[in-house]
Amino acid sequence: MLNIGLLGAGRIGHVHGATLRGMTTACAAAVSDFVPDAAQALAGRLGAEVMTSEEIIASDKIDAVVIGTPTTTHYDLIHAAAAAGKAIFCEKPVDLSVDRIRECLAAVEKAGVPFMTAFNRRFDPGFAHLQKQIADQVVGNVEIVTILSRDPAPPPIGYIKQSGGIFRDMMIHDLDMARFLLGEDPVELTAVGSCLVDPAIGEAGDFDTAAVTLKTASGKICQISNSRRATYGYDQRVEVHGEKGMLRAMNVPEHNVEFSSGAGFTSAPTQPFFLERYAAAYRAEMEHFVASVVDGVEMTPTGVDGLKAQMMADAADASARDGQPRKLQF
Ligand SMILES: NC(=O)c1ccc[n+]([C@@H]2O[C@H](COP(=O)([O-])OP(=O)(O)OC[C@H]3O[C@@H](n4cnc5c(N)ncnc54)[C@H](O)[C@@H]3O)[C@@H](O)[C@H]2O)c1
Repeated sequence: MLNIGLLGAGRIGHVHGATLRGMTTACAAAVSDFVPDAAQALAGRLGAEVMTSEEIIASDKIDAVVIGTPTTTHYDLIHAAAAAGKAIFCEKPVDLSVDRIRECLAAVEKAGVPFMTAFNRRFDPGFAHLQKQIADQVVGNVEIVTILSRDPAPPPIGYIKQSGGIFRDMMIHDLDMARFLLGEDPVELTAVGSCLVDPAIGEAGDFDTAAVTLKTASGKICQISNSRRATYGYDQRVEVHGEKGMLRAMNVPEHNVEFSSGAGFTSAPTQPFFLERYAAAYRAEMEHFVASVVDGVEMTPTGVDGLKAQMMADAADASARDGQPRKLQF
């Protein structure tokens, strides 16, 4: 049984806690949160102890930590957990600074501990199947990948201000998905960004509508489209066009009942937001982490995957601001 310390009892802490509660190979042995009531509420549900993050990291009863605290805290927690020899599951983004991510990865390498960047979308059943179809050459040589990712509505402006911007906060998932599906690193990137949804987002120095084009050394192209608004709900689709055909991963509806009448056909809305849409992915990524630590299954996505996505997000932000394309060198 892998004893896990859950750092952070917020939105994502609850998701990972629920997964661990259902597992037989791992459990949440301890929970920490700066807000004692938050830690207590989650720990009570999981039958876990309440401890501080520092106590969890120092405890020899804890084998691994799940870092689900705000991004600004990841750096210190990674360093402390690595030095204590804990396996680390870290929420995305690892940090908002590429240099600081490099320092985290150096600490992890020095300590020789397993480290996983939680890009949960790689574990979504649809996207994972699509990637396997690509690997199995179902569409032959991949030519153009299209990734569409739109939130139902913008987050509060307070969140936007500390998020690192749309490319580092939101598109980072899609930038990782692009590498996952292309099967090779992009070498060129061009980005555009606009503020069309909420002027307050522009006043905060961010974009709410953005697109990126990537090109790999062999010429494969990927287009990513992001919006902080979609009137019809959470929109998460991927299309892969190749020499032998096209693969598409569609939105996941709330149910599969369709109403037909003389006025046309009406089907269910999409899953409302990421917690529902990616519920299966969150479970699968935690199961993968535990299997990797316990059975030595190769751990992915790695810290380097987290670093590369962040480098792409930085390049996208810079390109959207000055209108110039960027070369990507990892
Ligand atoms: N993979 C995904 O789809 C996904 C989704 C949401 C959030 N995230 C990431 O997860 C992280 C947390 O996001 P959230 O939405 O759950 O935030 P949240 O604010 O809901 O929860 C974070 C919790 O951590 C607590 N906290 C702060 N510092 C702490 C510390 N040092 N030790 C213990 N607890 C501490 C806060 O009190 C808070 O309760 C962020 O890095 C975010 O980017 C990832």
